[in-house]
Amino acid sequence: MKSYRISNLIEEAPLDQKVEVKGWVRSFRSNRFIALNDGSSLKNIQCVVDFENIDEAVLKQINTGAALQIQGKLVESQGRGQAIEIHVDQLEVIGPADPDEYPIQPKKHSMEFLREQAHLRIRTNTFAAVMRVRSALAFAVHQYFQQNGFYYFHAPIITGSDAEGAGEMFRVTTLDPKSPPLTDSGEVDFKQDFFGKETNLTVSGQLEAEAYAMGLGNVYTFGPTFRAENSNTSRHLAEFWMIEPEMAFYDLHDNMDLAEKFIVSIIQYILDTCQEDLEFLEKRLLDEEKQIPQQERSAMPLLEKLQFIISNPFKRVTYTEAIDILRNSKPNKKGRFQFPIDEWGADLQSEHERYLVEKHFNCPVILYDYPASIKAFYMRLNEDGKTVRAMDVLFPGIGEIVGGSQREERLDVLKEKIALLDIDEKELWWYLDLRKFGSVPHSGFGLGFERLVQFATGMGNIRDVIPFPRTPQNAEF
Ligand code: 4AD
Ligand code: MG
Repeated sequence: MKSYRISNLIEEAPLDQKVEVKGWVRSFRSNRFIALNDGSSLKNIQCVVDFENIDEAVLKQINTGAALQIQGKLVESQGRGQAIEIHVDQLEVIGPADPDEYPIQPKKHSMEFLREQAHLRIRTNTFAAVMRVRSALAFAVHQYFQQNGFYYFHAPIITGSDAEGAGEMFRVTTLDPKSPPLTDSGEVDFKQDFFGKETNLTVSGQLEAEAYAMGLGNVYTFGPTFRAENSNTSRHLAEFWMIEPEMAFYDLHDNMDLAEKFIVSIIQYILDTCQEDLEFLEKRLLDEEKQIPQQERSAMPLLEKLQFIISNPFKRVTYTEAIDILRNSKPNKKGRFQFPIDEWGADLQSEHERYLVEKHFNCPVILYDYPASIKAFYMRLNEDGKTVRAMDVLFPGIGEIVGGSQREERLDVLKEKIALLDIDEKELWWYLDLRKFGSVPHSGFGLGFERLVQFATGMGNIRDVIPFPRTPQNAEF
């Protein structure tokens, strides 16, 4: 007898043969019909038991959430809603689930409730669909780079440098929190810490990736990154996954071309391979949005939106052009932005990014050539002396999904910038070395993986696209 994953069983449909499946009960009706799911797809297999031939004690254990092993004959279904079903000969309860305690019932649960049950929520259709799409996206990321001459580079997770100069990092230490060793001047003496210096969880693998691009040519990272910003939004996590390609001999325009081709390719991949899950997620979103006002709903159903993204070029606009558009925009004139735009040099908030993408251009936008003052120290200074070769990719419903730049490869210019920002040159000695030995123009970007998963699945909250989210006040699981 052959043991099947349920998705294969439904696809192959070996009628009149004896088959075996294992999975979890989604529902049990009329003491007769078990809907069994094993995670292989959204589809359950209906297993029909003859309750007269089954031990009373076993029957009592067939509850939602229980794990079963089932053997029986596969036949055409007489009922509606499924083409085939298993007529059960043998049933073993591998792991019972107490129906009075198991929290995931065959009904609609709120996302908030399910976040509190993050260890069990994967047994719902929504989370299983999201996580299968997430897995496919991760595969597509590797496939794209591996097929295009990039090497997978593992950036360190514990670092001694602050890549973004943002200072919002999680410290890594083995010092006693109650009485850390102090220096003569009364500060914590990190020389006595595990690494002999202050260390943190990385906010980005970029600086290290730059070193490797200078030997391997094109590399990419794909790993966890950490930010201790206290932002409780639907787009921020304290621990998220980032993909950071870094390319020698690329200028900013090559960088934008790559970002666009890369994103289009991975979205195409899930359209090709995750049709069923995406259709389910599209319906879920339409249902959910029925409860909100018309003007707040998505402009397009999920699949149409994904198709639209891959078939229309991203609009490329300089920061300066964007500021003009924003300054003259209706919401700005009517005082409807929380942060009004009046001067060149203003940092763009997500309300501005979303106006540009969702109201003005109606397509993904790549903004580039930002003021130096609002971007990181490593970005290459333009000839105008006031803008840098930065680029952000902005997506409808999400805002910034990619941040990147051409890097400053000139030692003297980089040193000046570092001095200007009061960063200690000694901290960056090895990064400056890269500008001394065989320095070349190079570029890269970071794609926030969860924001991409959010976009691809239509999930409104970033906490629902990563298995166990880490956010302020929350690391339960
Ligand atoms: O724009 P960011 O900060 O860029 C960098 O870290 C560069 N070092 C990348 C590079 O050039 N190699 O972050 C890149 C992306 C953002 O566009 C966003 O999608 C995501 O990372 N991101 C977050 N995602 C979830 N939660 C957070 N707290 C995030 N912060 C950034
Ligand atoms: Mg950014």
